[in-house]
Amino acid sequence: MSNRVNRQVLTLDEFTIQQMRNYPQATGELSNLLRDIGLAAKRVNVEVNKAGLVDILGDFGTVNIQGEQVKKMDVYANNQFIGVLKHGISCAGLGSEELEDIVIFNDEISNNSKYVVVIDPLDGSSNIDVNVTIGTIFGVYRRVTKPGTPCTIEDFLQTGRNQVAAGYVIYGSSTMLVYATKRGVNGFTLDPAIGEFCLSHPDIKCPESGKVYSLNYGNILQFGEKIKNYIERCQKKSKKDGGPYTQRYVGSMVADVHRNLIKGGIFMYPGTVDKPNGKLRLLYECNPFSFIVEVAGGKASNGKQAILDIVPDQLHQRTPFFIGSKLMMEEFESCMNS
Ligand code: AHG
Ligand code: MN
Ligand code: MN
Repeated sequence: MSNRVNRQVLTLDEFTIQQMRNYPQATGELSNLLRDIGLAAKRVNVEVNKAGLVDILGDFGTVNIQGEQVKKMDVYANNQFIGVLKHGISCAGLGSEELEDIVIFNDEISNNSKYVVVIDPLDGSSNIDVNVTIGTIFGVYRRVTKPGTPCTIEDFLQTGRNQVAAGYVIYGSSTMLVYATKRGVNGFTLDPAIGEFCLSHPDIKCPESGKVYSLNYGNILQFGEKIKNYIERCQKKSKKDGGPYTQRYVGSMVADVHRNLIKGGIFMYPGTVDKPNGKLRLLYECNPFSFIVEVAGGKASNGKQAILDIVPDQLHQRTPFFIGSKLMMEEFESCMNS
């Protein structure tokens, strides 16, 4: 048996440190932050994997600030991410889907950190009880307030374009962490044998076009005419244009957008008559994905403007959301402008 170490495998830590070497002025704080998120994700992954075995399934018995049933795993994941980031050295505070207000870590080390994090600790939580893919979504911002002081809501209400990094974890048939900085999108698959995220999808690019459209078709009667027209166009695509498109909808945005990022496609959560802003949250669901997909060459919009240009005024605000392959998004946008 050979004693040689296989150096083809690059762990998340090794990769971020390698990236940092290209920036002599880098302090390593972002690498630290990503390592902390990776650590919390591994802990969540362990619980997700045994969710059918322990008494962690089912409702927690409360509703979160969105008025949705909170599942036990949502609470567990939220606590893991907060705990790890609070005790790390790179994060001054956090805004979470599960908590009405931002969490200001407010200790000497955290106050000196330059980043804040927005997070959906568990996305697709209605899928936990039925063993379907779920995820975590996060965005990282450089604070606008002065380091040395506690962070404030101002640090969180930045446009998505200001994100320094954004990523997601997908707890699927394998567990992956995908993150983007302006320089590129890279995917790491968890090797359960060594408990490390290993670079498996370097420099992810979103195909310019695809054959999949993803949306909750059950809401069709509630959509505006232009959206309905676009969906009909997807269904009527001729064979030579790759049609008719296939409809795929997991109901966990992480799974739906991940598939479209890798294979090409468009994901839509439009506003409805009852809920003109749709369901998805700008800060910790739409912005991180928009950043990742744009860096990978795709596009994201609310039907009128790029998601990343929206100036937020609330931590939990919602927005209609359309995201995916560049050419499909351009066709969608031309339908919306017609
Ligand atoms: P969460 O579990 O964080 O509340 O998010 C669920 C979201 C998203 O992942 C998914 O695309 C969407 O809700 C599904 O909503 P519908 O059931 O209305 O289609
Ligand atoms: Mn979500
Ligand atoms: Mn959630």
